[in-house]
Amino acid sequence: MIKKGIILAGGLGTRMSPITKSVNKQLLPIYDKPLIYYSLSVLMLAGIKDILIIVNKGQINQFKKILIDGRNFGVKLQYKEQQKPNGLPEAFIIGEKFINNNNVALILGDNFFYAQSLTKTLKNATKLNKGAKVFLHPVKNPKLYGIATIKNKKIINLKEKPLITKSNLAVTGLYFFDKQVVKLSKTLKPSKRKELEIVDLLNKYRKKNALKAEFLGRGGAWLDAGSIDDYYDTTSFVSTIEKRQGFKIACLEEIALNNGWINKVVLNESIKFYGNCEYAKYLKNLL
Ligand code: DAU
Repeated sequence: MIKKGIILAGGLGTRMSPITKSVNKQLLPIYDKPLIYYSLSVLMLAGIKDILIIVNKGQINQFKKILIDGRNFGVKLQYKEQQKPNGLPEAFIIGEKFINNNNVALILGDNFFYAQSLTKTLKNATKLNKGAKVFLHPVKNPKLYGIATIKNKKIINLKEKPLITKSNLAVTGLYFFDKQVVKLSKTLKPSKRKELEIVDLLNKYRKKNALKAEFLGRGGAWLDAGSIDDYYDTTSFVSTIEKRQGFKIACLEEIALNNGWINKVVLNESIKFYGNCEYAKYLKNLL
């Protein structure tokens, strides 16, 4: 059972400069809430309450201003800094103490998931005992992602941003690992772009026949808000769905309430904290 999760929320956001020059990408809005709410909501839907957020050097206070220690969402948040973007697997080296020899989930702070039965799929993934699990989703431009080649539902090949590939299945930024992950991350060498690569880590599991793949399904949406266009596409997706159905996507307090992690007293605290805004009005309706 996976009870711990890491959100990797650093990075330079160079593809979104100048917007990201002074503010971390993960704190910018996707429609009506900061981008990091969406990745945090995924871990919470998976039932994970013990969470480490890894941010850029000097940025912990920016994140704490909005997320505090997680008490308003019924979770326990800790923060650590990454000195510079040395690659995704560095999360497990920075988080070694936090992981404390347990299985762990990792989500990238700029990833957005919306799919039918997502909660069930996520809860299922936390049952992982040994090995690693990834979620695959088709994309139009495989050059931008880690790409998996599948044969008989098994991953037979994994490449980071391949220039030529027959597969269109991207490895999304949500990963579930067994406790070997820290040890294996430490054996990785930087790639040509001078980063530790998540694909190299996953390949270590694949070679041991310990890598499982799952699909979000055709009706699911996965977006990584990496470029300005992705960012606005995600915003308009959330705005369309929320306006049409009247429910919010990634309302952390609502998830916490449904999970039985907070009560109405705590919810009232959040309403006061946010002040007079549409988000707080939505929370009032939950009361
Ligand atoms: O979004 C899924 C893709 O994410 C995967 O398909 C790829 O295999 C994986 O390498 C990654 O590719 P990206 O090109 O999107 O990674 P990027 O460098 O943009 O970083 C993703 C997020 O993680 C972003 O919010 C910044 C953060 N980050 C990244 C690195 C490299 C860190 O916090 N620290 C880092 O060292």
